[in-house]
Amino acid sequence: MPQVLEFADVVVRRNARNIVDHVDWTVTDDQRWVVLGPNGAGKTTILQLAATLLHPTSGEVTILDERLGRTDVFELRPRIGFASSAMARRVPPEETVLDVVLTAAFSVLGRWNEEYETIDERRARRVLGEWKLDHLADRTFGTLSDGEQKRVQIARAVMTDPELLLLDEPTASLDLGAREELLGLLGGYAQAPTTPAMVMVTHQVEEIPVGFTHVLLLRDGAVVAAGPVEETLTAQNLSDTFGMPIALSVEDGRYAARATSGA
Ligand SMILES: Nc1ncnc2c1ncn2[C@@H]1O[C@H](COP(=O)(O)OP(=O)(O)O)[C@@H](O)[C@H]1O
Ligand SMILES: [Mg+2]
Repeated sequence: MPQVLEFADVVVRRNARNIVDHVDWTVTDDQRWVVLGPNGAGKTTILQLAATLLHPTSGEVTILDERLGRTDVFELRPRIGFASSAMARRVPPEETVLDVVLTAAFSVLGRWNEEYETIDERRARRVLGEWKLDHLADRTFGTLSDGEQKRVQIARAVMTDPELLLLDEPTASLDLGAREELLGLLGGYAQAPTTPAMVMVTHQVEEIPVGFTHVLLLRDGAVVAAGPVEETLTAQNLSDTFGMPIALSVEDGRYAARATSGA
């Protein structure tokens, strides 16, 4: 399987501390990864490296066969879909849902006077349908619920048909119903044969969608364990990742975790 992402001994150093600490990691195009760890573990920083938004202090990051630092990131970025709440905050609240998604085709936020090809609009409407947003196409982004806004961010990220899809905490802050609805959509998307390689960040094992194949466990910027979900997501590895004794259960492909007394 072709590699879409390779980290080799990657370090990101800030304030005399390695916030990414000698990370080795490979993602191939048939894999869907969850990056899991406590707040401050370095998950967002890892995703920013994969999105070409950050360069490592040392080590090598290779994305879609292009080495960071030796390639034009502006050519690479259209091949990568990236959704995060930081990006959502930059969406003008008065922008319509259709335009938020459609403008991804031009890598701009905010609709100006570009000539939109009908084919782009058709694709945008199809993507809106896939993420259950068709009825909201003409609504403004600022009037949407949290769950709807998250789905719009993802729709925008997949609009350009990326070869790598990166999602930073797509289900954070959602209520139970909105979370479950989005996890269902993400699981369906993850299992579709035409879906690109995916990396999704979360700090909750309950938010791992069915269909995700691999997990990277991070603590203090370093890899605790990485590999196929069934082998890697163990109570022991989670306990090491979160620094407390944790019990783990799994039902119908969904995980749940809680602290134990350690006994
Ligand atoms: N530009 C920066 N300068 C200094 N520290 C940073 C910077 N960016 C992130 N950090 C720190 O690095 C650690 C990892 O951050 P982050 O990748 O956002 O973690 P996570 O997404 O896992 O919560 C945190 O302790 C954070 O405060
Ligand atoms: Mg983060």
